[in-house]
Amino acid sequence: MTAHAPALNLVMLGPPGAGKGTQAERFALKHGVPKISTGDILREAVTAETGMGIAAKQVMDAGRLVGDDIMIGIVSERLAREDAKAGFVLDGFPRTVRQAEALDGMLGQQPLVVVDIVVPEETLVRRLASRRMCGTCGHSALPEAKGCPKCGGALVVRLDDSAGIVLERLRVYTEQTAPIVEFYRDRPHFLAIDGTTSPEQVQAAICDAVTAVTGGFA
Ligand code: AP5
Repeated sequence: MTAHAPALNLVMLGPPGAGKGTQAERFALKHGVPKISTGDILREAVTAETGMGIAAKQVMDAGRLVGDDIMIGIVSERLAREDAKAGFVLDGFPRTVRQAEALDGMLGQQPLVVVDIVVPEETLVRRLASRRMCGTCGHSALPEAKGCPKCGGALVVRLDDSAGIVLERLRVYTEQTAPIVEFYRDRPHFLAIDGTTSPEQVQAAICDAVTAVTGGFA
């Protein structure tokens, strides 16, 4: 990227299990920008047993959303760091209209590409029922994986992937997060991507669509 190229700021939207984390990681790696996952930040705080982690754990385990003020504070602090100045990929934020409005405020005139990964509910439920994640580094793994593809660590089931909690997460998504799709839909850099094909095909579709709307600056 040249000194004058606009920053590549991208948000991955989609319901639980749509593949936001999977695609955010691939996109970040390819474009050399940080992947900022609010779910990962919260899970790290839970593991470290910080005050915020202890408070967030109950809410996350129940499949509900952590408060807007806390999340806006976390993201605002993270985006102010030097490594996010040339761009970033956000995974899991924004999740409410209030968070989306706050992100607009943080970005000012900077462009924002919004990728909405579209997957039907029955596929989401099936994916989350079989998802495993690395107990060491938190990387999401495909069901057939024997160990973490990133660090080789043992795979575990995420607490909030139990059947009842997944249904609650989907309900919360429909009620509180789906409205932000409409908040962004009419913007020139909004992209709806079919998330039902293989991770490689979804990645290629995102890459092509982003290149088309950014005129290649990405
Ligand atoms: P978070 O970690 O963000 O969870 P989520 O949104 O429910 O999303 P997931 O991580 O479950 O799914 P994903 O879309 O990333 O899919 P993935 O790539 O893993 O948040 C957890 C909790 O933290 C929230 O419930 C809330 O409590 C709190 N929180 C976080 N951010 C917040 C915020 N901003 N405000 C308030 N609270 C917040 O893929 C899923 C599975 O499918 C994997 O096994 C993967 O390998 C597989 N897969 C991926 N792509 C494909 C494909 N194309 N084909 C087949 N399988 C695929």
